[in-house]
Order: sequence, then C-alpha cells, then structure tokens
Amino acid sequence: MTDANAKRREEWNEGNADRRAWNTGDQMMQEDPIKTARILIVDDQEVNVHFLEGTLRWVAGNTNFKSTTNPREVEALIAEFEPDLILLDLHMPERDGFMVMEDLKQVIPADAFLPILVLTADVTPEAKQRALAGGAKDFLSKPFDTTEVLLRSNNLLQTRLLHLELANQNQILEVKVQERTRDLQKANDDLQAAHRDLEDAHIEMLERMALAAEYRDDDTGEHTKRVGQVSAFLGRALRLAQDQVMLLRRAAPLHDVGKIAIPDQILLKPGRLTAEEFEVLKTHTTIGGKILSGGRFALLKLAEEIALTHHERWDGTGYPHGLREATIPLAGRIVAVADSFDALTHERPYKEAWAVEEAVAELQRCAGTQFDPTIVDAFLGLRADSLAAAVLGFPAAARRGA
Ligand SMILES: [Fe+2]
Repeated sequence: MTDANAKRREEWNEGNADRRAWNTGDQMMQEDPIKTARILIVDDQEVNVHFLEGTLRWVAGNTNFKSTTNPREVEALIAEFEPDLILLDLHMPERDGFMVMEDLKQVIPADAFLPILVLTADVTPEAKQRALAGGAKDFLSKPFDTTEVLLRSNNLLQTRLLHLELANQNQILEVKVQERTRDLQKANDDLQAAHRDLEDAHIEMLERMALAAEYRDDDTGEHTKRVGQVSAFLGRALRLAQDQVMLLRRAAPLHDVGKIAIPDQILLKPGRLTAEEFEVLKTHTTIGGKILSGGRFALLKLAEEIALTHHERWDGTGYPHGLREATIPLAGRIVAVADSFDALTHERPYKEAWAVEEAVAELQRCAGTQFDPTIVDAFLGLRADSLAAAVLGFPAAARRGA
C-alpha cells in the first residue's frame, strides 16, 4: 500500500469513529439515520444519476447525496464525503466499476463494511460472481425498477448502520475492559504491597521475639542473627531451594525462644549447672516449640520444628525426644551445627571464646555422634570469609539477603 493510501485509510477510520459516536448519541433528538445516511452515486450516464438520486430523495426520503459521472473522482469523494453506501455503475469508459472496486480495496479497511451496490445491465451469473468477488454487496439491474432501488439501498443502509453501531459498542466495551483491567491491576498491586507489608511486619515481630529471648545474655541479639546466617550458608551448601534457605535464615534465630521461660539463676549461672538445673534448661526446647506451635505460615512451622529439635543429637542421645539420624528434621540438624559453632567461638558466662580452628576441630570430632556428618562436611566447605563473618558478625545488608 502506498503512503497516500495508508493516510486515506487512516482518515477513513477517524471519520467513521466520529460518525459512530454521532449514531449512538441521543437518537430522540436526531432524524432517522437511514434518511440522513450519505449516499455516493457513480455512473457515467447523467440520466441514471438523476433517476437514482430522485427516486431515493423523493420516494425514500434520503437527503444526503454526492454523485459523479467520472470514476476517477471516486476516491477523493469517499475521502471527503465518507459515504455509507456507494451506488457504482459497472460499465463506464476508461475506468469501469471493477477497477474502481479494486482501487477502493486499497483505501477502505476490510472490516469497514462500506457497501457497494453495483448498477449493471449485465445480469449473467458470471458478471454477478465477478462483481461479488470484486467487493460488491448487491446488484441493481438496468433499466432500474423503483421498488428494487428502494428495497436494496434501504437493506444495505440498515446493515451499514447496524455495523457502525456494533463497532461503536465494541469500542465502548473495549474501553471499559481496559479500564477494568487497569483497576484490577491496581487492586492487585495494592494487595501485593499490603501482603509485603504484612510479611515484613510478621518477620520483624519474629525477629523481636528472638531478641526478647536472648536479651538477658545478649542484648544485641547478634547470636540469633549469626545462627540464622550460618544456617542459611549451610542450607545453600546443602543445595536447598532458595526459598527454603530464606525460611531457614529467618526461622533459625528463633531456636532458643523458649529460654524466655528459663530463670536467670540457671540461664546466667557462671559455673556448671546441676543435673536438676540442666533438666530445667532443657525445657527451653519444648517451651519454644509450644510458643511457636499452631502457626499457619511455613516460617512459623519451621521455627517450631527448629526450636524443638536443635538439641537432638545424631547418635540419639540428645533432647527432648532422643531422636536419631535422619529422624531429626534437617533444619534441626543444620541449626545444631550453626548454634554450636557460634557458642564455641563466643564467650559465655561459663566459658571463654574458642579460636575458629579449635571450634572447627570440635565440630569434626563430634561428626557422627552429636552432628550429622554431612552437615559438618558442608560446614568445612564454607568459604573462609563466610566463617570469619560467622564469628565477627554480619553487616545488616548481608543479613537481609539469604
Ligand atoms: Fe538452644
């Protein structure tokens, strides 16, 4: 298609958009749209033009016409007049109706439904088929019959106007669908933002709960954070899924939340605990499990599992339930290693901080008895800078990522 044709098609579409709006306006205030519809008559015989226009004007009541005896003017007239119906003679010198219809295909969109009523004395089936294939919608036989002219033009105009109305309705619906889609998208975005806020609040609340449990012997909460981060390192080294690693990092800091119920004279005692005192201390696992039990969210469920099982031992001699090997949940086995490493490398009321090498050697020594050997292996594979950070603490930004 040439640029000129493309421009004309664009103008055609714009013009019809205006008319569609006009057609669905307040119909009560307007004349019969069939009577005011635009009719273009193209016939090289002036007498035919007069007959058709006269019949349609004085018998059918149509009021809006343009006509030409020169087929070369058709395209310009269509652009200027924007007809609803074209009455087109087939047999004209120089440029016949077939050629005109061929030209119009280039400027009128296929879905525009601008009906062409062909005027012809040649009523053979071949001529009709050729005209239909060329774009005609109906025929008027010459010599003209008044009733036939009225009926056929009226039929095509009605179809044309229905088509415009339908196109207009479709356009209105499309706009409505776009508006609703935008509203829905915004509601969805708002909901997601609310969910994110809720999740952040939830996580923050759990972090503060972990801090409350540690507050008496670690008012910075750094121990819980380090255990969370080292557990996440181990989760990654064990090739857990990213979302599981994230959950582990957030749930592991709650492992000792049950200590909130352990009396100070036991929790902060500088020397060795008596057997009775140790029994009380051991209850921090079951108390933690109870505090975190019944949660609907995966994070709380995992935190409950960790609180309850992080003092179980690989050989079955741990507490509170004496679980062994793989019957101990993986998260509990991971946190057992991370928690012990952190306890060893940091000062406690009853001990000095150990050097990293000594703590690593202790983990190796206890692999297969206290700890899952696979997890100790994963620990030994951690990078030196991760280990150093595990001892010295993590910047806030690193803690936010898994
Ligand atoms: Fe503990």
